[in-house]
Amino acid sequence: MCGIVGYIGHREAYPIILKGLKRLEYRGYDSAGIALYDGSDIKLSKTKGKVADLEARLEKEITTNGTLGIGHTRWATHGVPNDINSHPHYSNSGNLVIIHNGIIENYESLKKELIKRGYTFKSDTDTEVLVNLIEDVMKKENTKLGKAVQIALNQVVGAYAIAVFDKNKPNEIVVARLGSPLAIGIGDDEFFIASDASPFLEYTKNAIYLEDEEMAIVRRDKEVKIRKIKDDSPVAPYMQELQLNLEQIEKGGYDHFMLKEIYEQPRAILDTFRGRLRTNEAIIKMSGVEDNMKKFLNADRIIVVACGTSWHAGLVSEYIFEDLARIPVEVEYASEFRYRNPVITEKDLVIAISQSGETADTLAAIKLAKSKGAFVFGVCNVVGSSIARETDAGAYTHAGPEIGVASTKAFTTQITVLTLIALRLARAKGTISSSDYRHHLIELELIPSKVEKVLKSDDYVKTIANIYKDVKNFLYLGRGYNFPVALEGALKLKEISYIHAEGYPAAEMKHGPIALIDENMPIVVIATKKGHYDKVVSNIQEIKSRKGKIIGIVTEGDQQVKELADHVIEVPETLESLSPLVTTIPLQLLSYHIAVMLNKNVDQPRNLAKSVTVE
Ligand code: AGP
Ligand code: GLU
Repeated sequence: MCGIVGYIGHREAYPIILKGLKRLEYRGYDSAGIALYDGSDIKLSKTKGKVADLEARLEKEITTNGTLGIGHTRWATHGVPNDINSHPHYSNSGNLVIIHNGIIENYESLKKELIKRGYTFKSDTDTEVLVNLIEDVMKKENTKLGKAVQIALNQVVGAYAIAVFDKNKPNEIVVARLGSPLAIGIGDDEFFIASDASPFLEYTKNAIYLEDEEMAIVRRDKEVKIRKIKDDSPVAPYMQELQLNLEQIEKGGYDHFMLKEIYEQPRAILDTFRGRLRTNEAIIKMSGVEDNMKKFLNADRIIVVACGTSWHAGLVSEYIFEDLARIPVEVEYASEFRYRNPVITEKDLVIAISQSGETADTLAAIKLAKSKGAFVFGVCNVVGSSIARETDAGAYTHAGPEIGVASTKAFTTQITVLTLIALRLARAKGTISSSDYRHHLIELELIPSKVEKVLKSDDYVKTIANIYKDVKNFLYLGRGYNFPVALEGALKLKEISYIHAEGYPAAEMKHGPIALIDENMPIVVIATKKGHYDKVVSNIQEIKSRKGKIIGIVTEGDQQVKELADHVIEVPETLESLSPLVTTIPLQLLSYHIAVMLNKNVDQPRNLAKSVTVE
């Protein structure tokens, strides 16, 4: 799941590509590389490590101001992250150079075949096999690059977004996609290629998103020609106007994207309400739901498929759909669902949740559900993403670009969308009284200001972070609606601070994890007033008698937990069903501050990438 970027036009390609790689680094940061055409030859430079490492090296190595180039930031799948396995990769003749995001699954058999035909390989990557396969086709069939790419890709099994050029034809870049995203920015006599639109936002607002199984020949000074990979038939390009702006993807004065994104939550939730939550008229309007109301109302059950944080949002939705709309819900890890033989019928409604809209496991689960006749509804953040396009209908979370690898505002806006859907269905089904419904809408509308208030506890959360930053283990406990929040809090801490943390339903503690508790173990307990408060207080007593350190997330004004806990972080009172939207915030801040204090790379934690486009 790397980032790819390319440029062909009248400007110097190097700075555009370098800046683009920095913006795409969230997609992978094992290595980075650039290939530029200097007027007679290819200048290639690549290195293990970050784009900044590449930049340091390029200052010495790059001497061209060429106007054609490609660049890559890698999340390794085949071959360890080292200089040699870094992209771009040359073909054997040195004429072709390629960048690739994805996996060529049948690379071994293709490689064997190519070795028999005299090809040699420097790297362990599947990508180097692909570029040589293309070269082989060019020679065998005596074709140009575009045709050779089309023929070669028909022999390939797997997923890819590629960009390749031929130094003997330095007026075109050939790109193709299957399963990995690829956008083409259309400027005045110049073109940009990238995994998402962020690298070219300041140059053009016009973009073509390639569909799966499409390729394009991007020629200097010409129109982009799109063709179907399968049969080479032409496809009419569909140009979109981008809504993103540059400010949205920059840090805006915060030290890290994650912190910026935590602080953006009041605005992001508000944006997600916009046009949908109409409290004065007591209605919720979501076109994706309205247009498919019958499907929702006739569904026997809802199956939620997602991964990671999005799966946690799915778990929250299980409570709210069952509680308010009385629809049975099953929440599935997409990766497990797709490899079982799940029972799915046309009477099931599947909700796929994904921030990036590119998660390979979720995408595969969607395809499986569709093949069994289920109606699939997507909840995505990235507009025009693969999942948004693959689903039958959907609702966007309007969180804006989430760059930090640890998901924050995507989570709360996913819960917001799912809550709106559950309330809308509850109303349509008559499982909620009109006064209760109104009450929910009023409380929901207050959430952004309540989140704003929780953010004010940031300094206090920081002091708690300082006390516990050096521990090795954390426990997070919650019940009911706040059990998934406990899971999410633990995931946040694990992924950015590398401290082991476990989330548990508070009452399950006595069935095992209680054995872990001693005076060194901090336990974050979500103990808000509504929602089994007394039971959670008993759980806190059990921890206290084993000398565990208690960090309580409590409702403003709470006294009981305050007396028992070592620290309490207050959140404003709200309905139990809406409480995850406020209780999540201090847990995000706690993990953020601990990671910063431990000097970890908050926005790009080790081994992770923002969108997981491999299985
Ligand atoms: C969240 O902090 C994670 N980095 C990760 O679990 C993420 O939520 C997961 O990979 C799913 O991504 P998606 O929402 O883009 O599908
Ligand atoms: N499979 C390729 C590699 O391992 C590309 C991985 C990626 O998408 O970054 O080099």
